[in-house]
Amino acid sequence: MFSFSAADMFSRRCVWVNGPVIVGAGPSGLAVAAGLKQQGVPFVILERADCIASLWQKRTYDRLKLHLPKQFCQLPNFPFPEHYPEYPTKRQFIEYLESYTRHFGINPQFNECVQSAKYDETCRLWRVKTVSGNGSEVEYICQWLVVATGENADRVVPEIEGLKDFGGEVIHACDYKSGENFRGKKVLVVGCGNSGMEVSLDLCNHDAKPSMVVRSSVHVLPREMFGKSTFELAMFMLMWLPLWLVDKLMLLFAWIILGNMEKYGIKRPSVGPLALKNTQGKTPVLDIGALEKIRSREIQIVPGIKRFSCGMVELVNGQKLEIDAVVLATGYRSNVPYWLQETEFFSKNGFPKTPFPNGWKGKAGLYAVGFTRRGLAGASADAVKTSQDICKTWKDDLKQKKQKVPTHRRCISTF
Ligand SMILES: Cc1cc2nc3c(=O)[nH]c(=O)nc-3n(C[C@H](O)[C@H](O)[C@H](O)COP(=O)(O)OP(=O)(O)OC[C@H]3O[C@@H](n4cnc5c(N)ncnc54)[C@H](O)[C@@H]3O)c2cc1C
Ligand SMILES: NC(=O)c1ccc[n+]([C@@H]2O[C@H](COP(=O)([O-])OP(=O)(O)OC[C@H]3O[C@@H](n4cnc5c(N)ncnc54)[C@H](OP(=O)(O)O)[C@@H]3O)[C@@H](O)[C@H]2O)c1
Repeated sequence: MFSFSAADMFSRRCVWVNGPVIVGAGPSGLAVAAGLKQQGVPFVILERADCIASLWQKRTYDRLKLHLPKQFCQLPNFPFPEHYPEYPTKRQFIEYLESYTRHFGINPQFNECVQSAKYDETCRLWRVKTVSGNGSEVEYICQWLVVATGENADRVVPEIEGLKDFGGEVIHACDYKSGENFRGKKVLVVGCGNSGMEVSLDLCNHDAKPSMVVRSSVHVLPREMFGKSTFELAMFMLMWLPLWLVDKLMLLFAWIILGNMEKYGIKRPSVGPLALKNTQGKTPVLDIGALEKIRSREIQIVPGIKRFSCGMVELVNGQKLEIDAVVLATGYRSNVPYWLQETEFFSKNGFPKTPFPNGWKGKAGLYAVGFTRRGLAGASADAVKTSQDICKTWKDDLKQKKQKVPTHRRCISTF
């Protein structure tokens, strides 16, 4: 990396990066960085937070564990420690990522938030502008740009009538740590994805009284079926059977294990869980205990929200509930459209237009890692392809540059 101060000419510092710029030091960015390190390609990794894996360190609740068995969550070339349980805790996962970072000697530049990135057609380079915590601005100039800012970069906060007048505590699930602060309180949990279910379960375990809003439908599957992880079983069946049949079998098994949940207010979508994930990106809930609390009515299921008023919520069926607090488990979105000035490869929702497994490589040195809607396994697959591809071009470029030197010298010697 070569840095020169151009304060006289420009208001920001310019940095030439001899290799790719990776945006985001979550599992995806770290996995790309590790692949590049192994092959000796220099890079810069920019992270808006003050630590690696900020989603895991700062925006998740205490009771969180990986949902899938560890062999599906490890990053390339670095297995989980053998003593880790099948479903590592959030703390163990963070420790794993920290040792991954140390092992490969990755040094992200923290507190640098990418504000914009644009391909300059004239010089055929990417211009990546950042702002750091102290307000100073830097422009990175590079040949390759790796987008690894994640599918869950920003929280989704829906506009709901009267929410501002509610008066009680309102937080997003990303700020929820544990039910400790909600003991004895009536809490409305908005949303029934994996976050909504687990927050509701955690609230129950801390003697709070959660009501969970289920406004549409959701697939709930047991985390394990017949002693095997549901994910593993589905992957195994997909090797032999078409997706529609695997979906049907999963639903049959779920019905045998969990029974009919419709009488408790949990309706299933008409499309199967794998098909829904593939077409709309909607993740099925892997149950780790919330269903039992729903059956025992410790978690109340309520329909969609009409409006809030002071200390109250009115539901679409006209029912009014007195509540003390609201947890918005309403999901996340990609932030790519806010900073990447590019519309050919990425769509308006901040995901590559081409689906997995082909959505990792764009034009002009642009890469996307971790947008496969396939969790950590998808991120690892993208990272391997991306780092290998960049290494190949980088080494080819280097060879060409070396070959050019004698030509140049010959040219000079003729004078
Ligand atoms: C509560 C929760 C639990 C989950 N559990 C699992 C699980 O068990 N298994 C699984 O496979 N997946 C799980 N996921 C999905 C999760 O997104 C992935 O596991 C993983 O974190 C994806 O890694 P990533 O690096 O792509 O994105 P992230 O982990 O989100 O990392 C992206 C990084 O980019 C940084 N960044 C964003 N914008 C900018 C910017 N403009 N400039 C600089 N830096 C920026 C962020 O600060 C962040 O550190 C879970 C998600 C959530 C929300
Ligand atoms: N342990 C784990 O591994 C774990 C734990 C938590 C999360 N995660 C992962 O993290 C990602 C995000 O999960 P998530 O649960 O936070 O988000 P999510 O899956 O996107 O779910 C959001 C929920 O909010 C609801 N919602 C949104 N706006 C609403 C509104 N105005 N009124 C009522 N309901 C509203 C949605 O309902 P509709 O469906 O009707 O839109 C949906 O039920 C997923 O990939 C998930 O698997 C993993």
